[in-house]
Amino acid sequence: MTCVTLPDTHIDAMLTILEFPDPRLRTRAQPVAVFDKALHELVDAMLATMYAAPGIGLAATQVNVHKQVLVLDVSEEKNAPLALINPRIVAREGEQVYQEGCLSVPGIFADVQRADRIVVEAADRNGQPLHIEADGLLAVCIQHEMDHLVGKLFVDYLSPLKREMVRKKLEKARRETA
Ligand code: NI
Repeated sequence: MTCVTLPDTHIDAMLTILEFPDPRLRTRAQPVAVFDKALHELVDAMLATMYAAPGIGLAATQVNVHKQVLVLDVSEEKNAPLALINPRIVAREGEQVYQEGCLSVPGIFADVQRADRIVVEAADRNGQPLHIEADGLLAVCIQHEMDHLVGKLFVDYLSPLKREMVRKKLEKARRETA
């Protein structure tokens, strides 16, 4: 695993997080080909946005950037930022059920079944290869964020009826804060 430097939290760095059912969340992300300053700035802004939310993971799709970039930090101390570029799951084993939430589906939590252990190949922000063997919450988080990169949300695992209830609840919440 590679750690990236924690960015200074600055209001300019905050990105707007798209919320379900925004159709842009359904976009499939493209692989990153160039590991340049713009990519580093995106990663830093995504980390700042994730920590400020606060959340434990954020995919570029959620900030309307359709590149295969995700950031996460599942540590208690929030001092282990991780950026995965072009991630691929190369092995998966077992099952676990975890009550998930998502910054794009605020205030909603639901049980989702995923692989218990995964092996992920990715690149770090400099294009260097990363090999990650993950289990528990880290495995959940990586699978959840990778779903975003193919336009999938955790509410897609719920029944259509439950998903419609989620949509209405969010609509009501947005009306009340408007
Ligand atoms: Ni999410």
